[in-house]
Amino acid sequence: MSTEFSRRAALQTLAASGAVAAMASTGVNAFAQTSNFDSYAASAKKNPWTLGWRSALAPDLSTPEVKLVSGKIPKGLSGTFYRNGPALFERDGLRVNHWFDGDGMVHAYNLDGGKVSHRGRMVRTGKYLREEKAGRFLVSGLGTKIENPAPITGPDDVNAANTSVLPIGGELLALWEGGSAYRLDDTTLETIGSKTWAPQLKGMPFSAHPKIENDGTVWNFGQDFFNNRMIIYKISPKGKLAGMHLLKNVPGGMIHDFCMTEKHLIFVAPSFRVSQKADTILGMFKWLPNQNQRVIVVEKDNLDNRREYDLPPGFQFHYGNAWEDKSGDIRFSVCVGDNSFVEKGAKALMRGEIFDVTPARLAHVVLRKGGSAKIESILSERATHEFPQFNNRFTGQNSRYLYTVGDQTKIGVGQMSILKHDLKTGNITAHNYGEHSIVEEHLFIPRPGGVREDDGWLIGTSLNLKTKATRLNILNAARLEDGPQAVFELPYALPLGFHGAWKGL
Ligand SMILES: [Fe+2]
Repeated sequence: MSTEFSRRAALQTLAASGAVAAMASTGVNAFAQTSNFDSYAASAKKNPWTLGWRSALAPDLSTPEVKLVSGKIPKGLSGTFYRNGPALFERDGLRVNHWFDGDGMVHAYNLDGGKVSHRGRMVRTGKYLREEKAGRFLVSGLGTKIENPAPITGPDDVNAANTSVLPIGGELLALWEGGSAYRLDDTTLETIGSKTWAPQLKGMPFSAHPKIENDGTVWNFGQDFFNNRMIIYKISPKGKLAGMHLLKNVPGGMIHDFCMTEKHLIFVAPSFRVSQKADTILGMFKWLPNQNQRVIVVEKDNLDNRREYDLPPGFQFHYGNAWEDKSGDIRFSVCVGDNSFVEKGAKALMRGEIFDVTPARLAHVVLRKGGSAKIESILSERATHEFPQFNNRFTGQNSRYLYTVGDQTKIGVGQMSILKHDLKTGNITAHNYGEHSIVEEHLFIPRPGGVREDDGWLIGTSLNLKTKATRLNILNAARLEDGPQAVFELPYALPLGFHGAWKGL
């Protein structure tokens, strides 16, 4: 892997921003966002679930001591649980057209001495600061077209920093998918500025699902979908760029996440291809329901060494763990669906409507060393499983347990359970938070000194629609069916978010 990266290659990659600029300069087919605003407001009067897609009440939130509802924090669990998600959807009577276009707000739940504090801050991206000053949205996004947009010079001009977080190098990075990470103070959550890993990488995409080895080494990628390629990043445990590589011939489309074994990185290009004629980035993605997905496997020690596979048509946001057996076969778990949520479901939510999307099914895939690939099994045909998590000490190794958010609520939006899948026996245990709750991602936190794979806790948030407040829940991962060991409740509802990270004390 090289730390050399030619200026020419960098400039070529920056041409990806041409897609953003092209998007902003087309002036036709603007979305009727005033009607989004009105539609959501009308729905919010009668549908409690819409609370999950209401903007945060203020750009900075703080609760020094969060109310304990039940239980107590288990001994040994001390640290900070960070989360990120879209939290500003409306300005000047307009409402964004797509959930993923809300500006990011990062949260820190600090667990110390048996108590919990909460702090939330909007990430002060360039986009956020300029739009605050103007009092209106200035730029289009993934699925939102703004009329009379401001000029755009690159992806960071539309960076919402709203997807995940990565504590590294004494800072907290707020991650997006199409542009730079944003650096935050990991205690105050104040925004420091955009992250530049190397001068020639300024403004390059850095995706929101980095993979971390046990020694703290971080792997990530940034997709240049317009030029069918991606940058692969290797970051040292202290947060310095340790290597980068330009991976070519990666079919276009939205690659949101990837997975990693001890020796390999695995990328799946979904059944999208990119067209230049559209007025949003999402509009540039053309869904081809009969086109196989393309799997690209590269060796971590020699990223030029690759092999490829085909998988049946589909699209996935997220992967579970991946590993390879002695024969060289690679196995991974994935929540696979189609384009319906990203193209329709996530837009309907912003209007306060529910679109019946195709469920994301939890599947296990095998890539044979000989060249064939197949979906070995599907755990659930009907119900959506999302936000897969596992004990990260087992990243890249054969692991037995996977935790997902699942069980669709009867209101037709979101999930109400956290589930534990025993991949060896097929057993599933679960905790159901009830019809009045929408459950968010739960992270697995290993018990300090623990050995067993499921010796630890799950920590995650849920939106309680009865109390109209966000809750922080802690469960014993070995006994999910017992319900939470501790539940805390904020004095406000936060908009539903995406991903988090844990930093132990
Ligand atoms: Fe994600």
